[in-house]
Amino acid sequence: MKKKNNLLNKTLAFLLSCGMLLAMAGCGSSASSSASSTASSASASTAQSSSQSADETTSGEKLRIGLVQLMDHPSLNEIRDSFIAGMAELGYDESKVEYDLQNGQNDPTILNSIAQKFVGDDVDLIVAIATPAAQSMAAATSDIPILFSAITDPVYAGLVQSLDAPGGNITGTSDAIPVESIFQLADELTPGIQSYGLLYNAGESNSQSVIAQVKEYLDSKSIAYTEATVTNSSEVQQAALNLVTQCDAIFSPIDNTVASAMPALATVAIENGKPVYVAADSMVNDGGLATVGISYTNLGKETAEMAVEILEGGDPATIPVRTLSEFSRVINPDTAAALGITVTE
Ligand code: TRP
Repeated sequence: MKKKNNLLNKTLAFLLSCGMLLAMAGCGSSASSSASSTASSASASTAQSSSQSADETTSGEKLRIGLVQLMDHPSLNEIRDSFIAGMAELGYDESKVEYDLQNGQNDPTILNSIAQKFVGDDVDLIVAIATPAAQSMAAATSDIPILFSAITDPVYAGLVQSLDAPGGNITGTSDAIPVESIFQLADELTPGIQSYGLLYNAGESNSQSVIAQVKEYLDSKSIAYTEATVTNSSEVQQAALNLVTQCDAIFSPIDNTVASAMPALATVAIENGKPVYVAADSMVNDGGLATVGISYTNLGKETAEMAVEILEGGDPATIPVRTLSEFSRVINPDTAAALGITVTE
């Protein structure tokens, strides 16, 4: 299984009618490498020890932000780096803000101990990247403000009462995308698909919500589908092997579990001549054929603006969830070539 970093810069980003052209794929690669060492060193074991942050507490008046990302993954790293850069641009650089960067390693037990640590340290703000991470933080405190990022469906995930009026100590940014646009792109690239294999982790509410919309869409077009669900990333390859014998194409939502095993899924699909449509640019970089997605760099910046609003006294209960309205088509040229698909434009 080849790691496809070299694809990042070659991935084509196209413009949809409503937005600017974003060099999304390229942003992801460069942004994600810069701070990943910080985050991976701040791992599970750090969550058990509070001595380091006790020193920080007594040493100054810096604002303290506990930032947790679900796992190490290009899109999630991109948000983290763009958030921290965005904070600095807004005047909250590391002379003003002390970050406690934590990585949940896609493990609920680790996420819980990170939440306990943030609560114990009484940080000024918790930032949580990806749905399971935000859900763990939300379960741990209703006092400390929580700002989430890249939550596909915050209402479905039980994080907010509504997008306009979150109602509690939690608000943030969503990476929701119009699912029809992905299937419209699929129609253009690979016309005549009669059946989709839907591959996702049924335990992720971010995926459940999208899959419900996808089924509704496919039903309305009388396109058949088969589902294959996984509970962890080691199951993805086998699930993909099952699906390729049954379907013309595979669709996967912005699923944290599938994303972690995207290269394995891409390899199986390419070997069997089947396109994989996904819902995040990083999954295209990792070998998926195409998506219509948002810029996670922009999402990180929007998240930083909301953080400043909260740190300056804003109440998460009344700060609406932000979504992005710019979407880009992202196609992996190597996957397209391997499948014999000609991309025009
Ligand atoms: N939207 C996902 C969630 O709600 C998180 C996410 C953002 C993600 N970008 C991604 C997951 C790319 C996998 C791949 O949890």
